[in-house]
Amino acid sequence: MTDFGIKLLEWYHLNKRPLPWRSTTDPYRVWLSEIILQQTQVVQGTAYYMRFVNQFPDIKHLAQASEEQVLKLWQGLGYYSRARNLHATAQYIVSELKGDFPQSYPEILQLKGVGPYTAAAIASFCFNLPHAAVDGNVYRFLSRLKGIETAIDTTEGKKLFTQIAEDLLNHRHPGDHNQAMIEFGALMCKPVNPLCGECPFREDCMAFATGTITSLPKKSKKIRQRKRYFHYLFIEDEGQIYLEKREGDDVWKNLYQLPVIEAAKNIPIQQLVGAVVEVPILVNEYKHVLSHQIIYASFYVADKSVLEKLKGNYLGVPLKTVHKYPFPQLIANFLNERIGLKQD
Ligand code: ADE
Repeated sequence: MTDFGIKLLEWYHLNKRPLPWRSTTDPYRVWLSEIILQQTQVVQGTAYYMRFVNQFPDIKHLAQASEEQVLKLWQGLGYYSRARNLHATAQYIVSELKGDFPQSYPEILQLKGVGPYTAAAIASFCFNLPHAAVDGNVYRFLSRLKGIETAIDTTEGKKLFTQIAEDLLNHRHPGDHNQAMIEFGALMCKPVNPLCGECPFREDCMAFATGTITSLPKKSKKIRQRKRYFHYLFIEDEGQIYLEKREGDDVWKNLYQLPVIEAAKNIPIQQLVGAVVEVPILVNEYKHVLSHQIIYASFYVADKSVLEKLKGNYLGVPLKTVHKYPFPQLIANFLNERIGLKQD
């Protein structure tokens, strides 16, 4: 083992958080945790992970659930393609692989929603296979330690950082080594205010020596965010409200929403609905920032007659069953304020 590897594991054994997916090598649980943690912080992710393993203790239970149940449990975590892929993959493993989770890196990498990082994490944590798991924490730690300015979101950067991580990997304990790299990035080599004063690698750290900690890691792309304006209509009529399922390849696919009028520009609703007997009344506005788009959501109370102007597939849903449907969190929040959604 290299000096680096020994120091890292020493640090890890003294400082690791007792996270629930660290006390298991069940590939189903590790896979679930890694999918949740792809775009979610540990604190929020842990609560969802616990709910998922309680409700779906193994892959068969997850496969038997409906997509709607899975999306409902995922509600609030965002990036819902993760939940749809998770469910589809569980069904695939149960029906095509007799419920046996694949055990080699290339087979794990084939699964929907699993990229090189997640495949390496599962392969090393569950099967002790020597693959370096390079997530955002590890990119940050390595870019500073080695003083690398190559952008991490380029093909060249990914190759370079993976190579460095593979060279440092502890082949006897690849799982613990990878967990330790991730944990070190998360707790010590943090994005802002890293704890350089107590870092065991300070003397070896290129960025510390050259005062470049805050400028690393480098990214090349500035993501363009598309602006969208969603006008949601809350229509209550005879103990029901109107909902529709979002279809098509777009954000929140297969979740439910209030009848919506979407615009690419910020246009007053009167112009969008044309002549109606009762103009919808604005009651709430939110700005919802996603990685590639910014959604400006306005909520209106409207009369049922507005629906005649629109062409969705609307369902009248009794107030007491509304809470069963999966919603984007901003709609769930609105409905909660308005009609008090029950929690199951
Ligand atoms: N982020 C991604 N994977 C993680 C893990 N296994 N432990 C802690 N944070 C993580």
